Amino acid sequence: MSTFTRMDESTAEQWAVIGAETMANQPRVAEEVLGMLRRLEGITDGFGTNQLVHALQTATLAEQAGADTEVVVASLCHDIGKVISVFGHPEIAASILKPYVRDEVYQAIRAHQDFQGKHYYHHFGGDVNARDKYEGAEWYALAAQFADEWDQVAFDPDGPYEPLEHFEPMVREVFAAPRSM
Ligand SMILES: [Fe+2]
Repeated sequence: MSTFTRMDESTAEQWAVIGAETMANQPRVAEEVLGMLRRLEGITDGFGTNQLVHALQTATLAEQAGADTEVVVASLCHDIGKVISVFGHPEIAASILKPYVRDEVYQAIRAHQDFQGKHYYHHFGGDVNARDKYEGAEWYALAAQFADEWDQVAFDPDGPYEPLEHFEPMVREVFAAPRSM
């Protein structure tokens, strides 16, 4: 079938092909995310662990606390934006996750730096109460638990954590099924 050279000349049949091809190729999304996670191993930036270990430790704590698969995968992926840029990294990770997780999970990752600030912003003269602007939000409790119990304590080079292989099936499951555009 010939395809269009401009969208305003496209047909429903052509879009059906594109839709089917796109879904057939959907597994590449999980593989790209796993590739980004592996690249976190090369980023340490002065922390006690590299960013892959930090991601694995965060996700392990979430899983041990009984979090569901979406939350565990979001915990694993919350800093993958650092592969591109430390500055703005929460929004990068949240945008990657957004079509695949429920809204509270997306919001918790998007805002995670504001919640983390409670534990270290005083070193920079920043607002340790940056999370207060989200008080009343449905996802506040999840974001607080994520930051306080999992993310901020996951920099222990001797701490236990599951290997990436343990989480790979969960990553493939979550990124296989987009819920929104
Ligand atoms: Fe983190």
